[in-house]
Amino acid sequence: MSLEAVRPQCWQSTGSASVAPLGGAGTGLGGESCAGGLWETGRTTLVSQGRWTGPIMALDPCRCVVTPVASSSLPGIGVGTWAWGNQFLWGYSPAQDPELEACFRRAVDLGLHFFDTADSYGTGSFNGRSESLLGRFCAGLNEQQLRSLTVATKLAPFPWRLGRAGYDRAFAASQRRLGGKLDRVQLHWSTARYAPWQEQPLLDGLAQLVRQGKVAELGVSNMGPVRLRQVHQRLAERGVKLSSLQVQLSLLAPEAVAEGGVAAVCGELGIDLIAYSPLALGLLARRPGPLGDVPAGPRGLLFRRLWQPVQPLLEALATIADHHGIPPFAVALNWCRSHGAMPIVGLRTVAQAEAAATAVGFPLQDSERQQLDQLARFSTARMPANPFQSR
Ligand SMILES: NC(=O)c1ccc[n+]([C@@H]2O[C@H](COP(=O)([O-])OP(=O)(O)OC[C@H]3O[C@@H](n4cnc5c(N)ncnc54)[C@H](OP(=O)(O)O)[C@@H]3O)[C@@H](O)[C@H]2O)c1
Repeated sequence: MSLEAVRPQCWQSTGSASVAPLGGAGTGLGGESCAGGLWETGRTTLVSQGRWTGPIMALDPCRCVVTPVASSSLPGIGVGTWAWGNQFLWGYSPAQDPELEACFRRAVDLGLHFFDTADSYGTGSFNGRSESLLGRFCAGLNEQQLRSLTVATKLAPFPWRLGRAGYDRAFAASQRRLGGKLDRVQLHWSTARYAPWQEQPLLDGLAQLVRQGKVAELGVSNMGPVRLRQVHQRLAERGVKLSSLQVQLSLLAPEAVAEGGVAAVCGELGIDLIAYSPLALGLLARRPGPLGDVPAGPRGLLFRRLWQPVQPLLEALATIADHHGIPPFAVALNWCRSHGAMPIVGLRTVAQAEAAATAVGFPLQDSERQQLDQLARFSTARMPANPFQSR
């Protein structure tokens, strides 16, 4: 496994990393020494003699962070923030904010640079909270860090948001909550199934925002191959590139990468594919066997319902993970990447941010992907489909 680094200022080049033993001085990539490097570990060990021997993050006082990174051109791993402000499904409370901020900082430090949010995230009085928190956390970054991030929000096509100007106020409100750090705006879901006339004027309005330079990139979400082609074509006629499509994609929702799925259209048209709920709300991070503790509320119901049918997949994930000495969730995320999709994983703790960053370094072998493809295809465990997903 080759190593690359999230490079600190004091390191000049990339290549294989060699790292001094704990407590010693660090030798940076390409052999430059990193003065005064007292290495502090993540939770597991270790790199020795330039070879990766297990999940680890090493960090010295000048924030020299080494994480394993695949040498291939696989998509990265992004961060989802649905839980930030969601009391109903994720049990959010404002007391979690310091941990969320620490999670955000750690993710940024470790090179997770894509953050996904939405104007509808946050339940009840916490409406808009995910964007507000993200905006507040971004305000604590320096200019260089800020520039390295892509913050993408999704605007909901609520029934009262109509016409080309239908998103104008929502866009301005998201901009405000995000403190101006908004790089990509996405249509949250397709209205093709229930109000097909609503969607295009809204997208035209967003395209206009891109043409006016008010936002750099445009994406869509919950769209199938037929609709995606139409939208791509119409935007192209208006001179606007469609940057990304975000759909549910995991081993329990593999439709996008099945034959005739939307992934092929993305590949053909040069649209980035983003996988949401890549861990099936955390279910695919578990080991097979007894269910153990379940989350409160609707997530718990889902875990109980899918626990038996998901066992063959969890067993395969655990076997592959143990073979590589990595946790199962890293295999589940890398299955998405092996299909050309960037998983956006929901994170809310520092430990989860560190684990997600480490997962970047463990691409699957073809045979492993194929084994998981087969299991996913014939599995009876399925995540509920998004009701707005269009054809
Ligand atoms: N476009 C759309 O319509 C749409 C729909 C849904 C989601 N999304 C986006 O996709 C993002 C991700 O999806 P998601 O939040 O639904 O679910 P997910 O990424 O499939 O699962 C997230 C959960 O997995 C668990 N987890 C994360 N890292 C872990 C680790 N290292 N070890 C063990 N467990 C770990 C955590 O649960 P615990 O914290 O409970 O441990 C976490 O909250 C969302 O945040 C959102 O940005 C978009």
